[in-house]
Amino acid sequence: MGEKVASENDINKGRRALISKIGVFGLVAAFFTWIGSTFRFLYPQVFYNPPSKVRFDLQSILGKTKGATIDESGILLVDDSYLLTNNFFIVVAIDKIYALSARCTHLGCTVNWVGSQRTFKCPCHGSQYTSIGKNFAGPAPKPLEVLKITKINRNIAEVDTKNRADLLDSKSGYALNI
Ligand code: FES
Repeated sequence: MGEKVASENDINKGRRALISKIGVFGLVAAFFTWIGSTFRFLYPQVFYNPPSKVRFDLQSILGKTKGATIDESGILLVDDSYLLTNNFFIVVAIDKIYALSARCTHLGCTVNWVGSQRTFKCPCHGSQYTSIGKNFAGPAPKPLEVLKITKINRNIAEVDTKNRADLLDSKSGYALNI
């Protein structure tokens, strides 16, 4: 009988020890979670945006116009090499080259170039733009914007994606003569 009571006490002791260990572990985990979340505020959140200035090879873009025909807006080539990475198109007209923003002027979706129709089309609400970027269908209230473009040397041009202007009002600095 005495032995039985002693073993029940042992079991109870073991249970209490286990519960107290779990409690201590919980407290330690909560403490480190609190420390971690407190120190997280000391570090700024970093967003990796693409650089705002993008350089491209003028001669290689111009090389793509070989054999191209001029469309009714006077455009030889729309190049979408920088669409995915920097959200603009390079447009080559008969006498100039410029960078056209791919941001729809309705609510900001990214437009696509549909070469077979010589048209930029917005997948969101159906706005359409000619190959020079002029809106002609859908809710877009104005043309696509042009981005500042600078000739660095004979071969290299630089587009500043943060410096934009209305296509029709743009002054010098938004196209390069070729
Ligand atoms: S965002 Fe392009 S049509 Fe609405």
